[in-house]
Formats: sequence, C-alpha cells, structure tokens
Amino acid sequence: MSELTYKKKKLVFSKTDIESVAKKYKTPFFLYSEEILVNNYQSFYEGAKAAGVRKPLVCFAMKSNPNKELVSILASMGSGADIVSGGELRRALEAGIPSDKIVFSGVGKTEEEILYALTVSKKGIYSFNVESLEELELINKCAKKTKTNARICFRLNPVVKPKTHKFISTGNKTHKFGLLEKDVLASLGKSIYWSHSTLVGLSVHIGSQLLDLKATKRAIAILCDVALKTKMPLEFLDVGGGLGVDYHPDEKKRLPSIETYMNIVAATLDRNFYQKSDLKPRVVFEPGRRIVAKAGIFVMSVLRNKVSENNHFVIVDGGMNDFMRPSLYDAYHGMLPVHQGLAKHPCHIVGPICETSDCFGSNRLMPKLKSGDLLVLQDTGAYGFSMGSNYNLRGRPLELLIKKNQKFKTINKPQDYKDLL
Ligand code: LLP
Repeated sequence: MSELTYKKKKLVFSKTDIESVAKKYKTPFFLYSEEILVNNYQSFYEGAKAAGVRKPLVCFAMKSNPNKELVSILASMGSGADIVSGGELRRALEAGIPSDKIVFSGVGKTEEEILYALTVSKKGIYSFNVESLEELELINKCAKKTKTNARICFRLNPVVKPKTHKFISTGNKTHKFGLLEKDVLASLGKSIYWSHSTLVGLSVHIGSQLLDLKATKRAIAILCDVALKTKMPLEFLDVGGGLGVDYHPDEKKRLPSIETYMNIVAATLDRNFYQKSDLKPRVVFEPGRRIVAKAGIFVMSVLRNKVSENNHFVIVDGGMNDFMRPSLYDAYHGMLPVHQGLAKHPCHIVGPICETSDCFGSNRLMPKLKSGDLLVLQDTGAYGFSMGSNYNLRGRPLELLIKKNQKFKTINKPQDYKDLL
C-alpha cells in the first residue's frame, strides 16, 4: 500500500485529503492512520506465523511511539510491549497491554521501577531483559524484599557489527548494551543473582533501521548457541527489534520484506536451536519502527521564503523540537508539497529553531512555495513525537488519528502557553 499519493494534484494520506485536515487543525501536527498501523502489525504477526515461528509474541517497542490511542489499537490486536521506563510501563498497562506480555529492557532501570514492575500483578511482568550483573543483583534483592520471583531474560551482547548509523548500533562490546556470553554463563548458579529470580529467556537487539540482515542472522545464531550453553529450560528466545523501513527511495530495493525477515528468523532458530534441543521456547519480537514509522506523517505550513544568494530557504512552522531525526542522525525523510507542482527549485527546508541543524532537508527539489502552503514530512510515525521536546519553549504539537471509518480523532492535544509557562 502506498501511504501517500496525489489525487487531482492534492496529496492524500490513507484515503484522506491532507488539505481538508489542515483546514480544521492548526499546523504543525502529526497525522496517523489506524488502517496502516493495523496492517503493519498484522503483516508482522501473520508473517511470523506463516514462516513457522513458534508462538510469536510481538512486543511493540513503546519508545518508537507511546501514544496511548495507538498503543491501545495494538493492544486490542494482541500486541505486547517492550518498555524501557516506569512511564512506558504505566502507559502500556493503561493502554490495555497485559503485564504478562511486557518485557523491560534498558541499562538503567531504577530500584523504584524494578519494584513497581515486580508487583504490578501477581506474577509481575513477562521479563526483565537484564543488561548487567549489577542490575540482576538488584532485581534479585528487590524480588526478595517484595517476596516475589523475578522473571529474567539476559540481553546478550553478541559482538556483531550491523550496518546502520553508529548512534543506533547496539550489538558490540563498545556499546553499553547487553552482556557478554562469558558473563551470562558465569552468573548461573550464583545465589546473589538467583535466590529470587529465574532465568526464563535470552534476547538480542543489535541495532535499529537494519536493512542488511547478515548481522541479524549471525546474532540470532549466537543467541541460540548461548541459550544451549546455559542448559536452562528457557521459555522464550527474544530476537529484538530493528527491522528498517525505506525512508529514501534508494532504500526500497534493499528493504527486506517481512517474509524475508521472518524466514531468516525461523530458519536460523531452527538450525541453531530447535534441531539441537528438546526445548521449544516461543519467540519474542520487539519491533517499533517497522510497525509505526509509515503510519504517520508530519504536516507543516510554510512561513516564508528567504534567499541568500544561491541558497533558497523555505522556513516552515515545524522544527527539530517536533521531529529531530534529521538533525540528530542526519536522517533522510521525504518531503512532499500538499499541492502537486513542478518540483524543480532546490531549497533547504528549515524550521524556526535557533540551530543550524534545524533543517529537514537540503537542496530538495520543490515547486515554488509560498507562505501558508502545506508541506508533509514523510514516515514520521516512529521516533517522532516520542523524541520531541519543548526546546525554544515551543509547545508540543497536536497528534491526530485517521480512524478506520475515515473520521479524525485528536489523540494528543497540542500544548499551549498555559501548559508551558
Ligand atoms: N528493542 C530494544 C531493546 C531497543 O533498544 C529498540 C530500539 C527496539 C527494540 C526497537 O527497535 P526498532 O524496531 O524500532 O528499530 N531514535 C532512533 C532509534 C533508536 C532505537 C533505540 N532502540 C531513530 O530515530 O532512528
């Protein structure tokens, strides 16, 4: 499904004429599509089933987009959650995700967060994805204090190098994430770690926006190898998230389909684990971007033009505080004018923030744009609103959802000065 198309020279997103939305709501705003979100989740889950993955549990990575309405939609389809904070845990629960479908990742879980996660229900959460032995010791102490038993999954650092931006690569020794195989194995049987905790799973997550799956395959094979070496009756193997999307047109050709990805996961697990063991652990996934990136766009208005000799700036009302991927990672995001025109003028699309990096794209070919014209930044559903800030004391923007019945729903009100001052 193409998310954005022109119909009679006007841009349409998920069957909705964007201009008509912008007539009712003030820009800038995020616009999401329930239909695309639902399709993305379904194709991920069904893809896992079709490839023969054992009892897949899809734990949506809440950091990519923790909007309550969007998470509720995923919860109603059976999604679990991958969380990294007490805030995300509370949000997952209020959105209807059962505690036994929640995995808790992150290198800096606090004692307060651990205590809450242990006592949130009779059995606590599905698992703590542990990133250091000190963390494990603390979780074990907390479980003792609360007379509970902690369900533990080690996040393994498989020491692989995926091809992605260095800021979102996580599977090597130099990264703060995960535990090395030798530390995982050395911890087993030591009561400071295990008197009130049980090892139930093993996980890997080697990075994000992965388009080349060689390192993923290697990491899963290493995961299997270490899982066998633990000789523990593991309930699940967690293959993490990280599957990329095509932000740039050139990435379309390299984009792994869900089918390709799931076949790699299933075959690697089969060859390296199931064929060598009597155990039949289920498989946990932690996708964020692949589920939600393409389900959202960011709609902005042109404020004015500015020409400095041969540099043509188009100044828009959205800024890096609203969407920071281009300024933080130099990430490419497509941009389309809502009114189709002859795109032949190279311009820099910049926001109002007082930073040179507040630029959504340089030398983009655009039709002539004037004050009030609408411009769409594509593929902003993941790591968009969730990474935004109030920098420059700007209010956070509106989030809107196009429901399946084509009606709009405000799913997060914009902040105004009352909220800020
Ligand atoms: N699991 C764990 C343990 C993670 O750390 C992450 C992402 C995910 C799952 C989900 O990864 P995904 O399927 O979304 O790639 N802000 C960056 C991305 C940071 C990803 C952090 N961890 C960006 O905008 O590209």
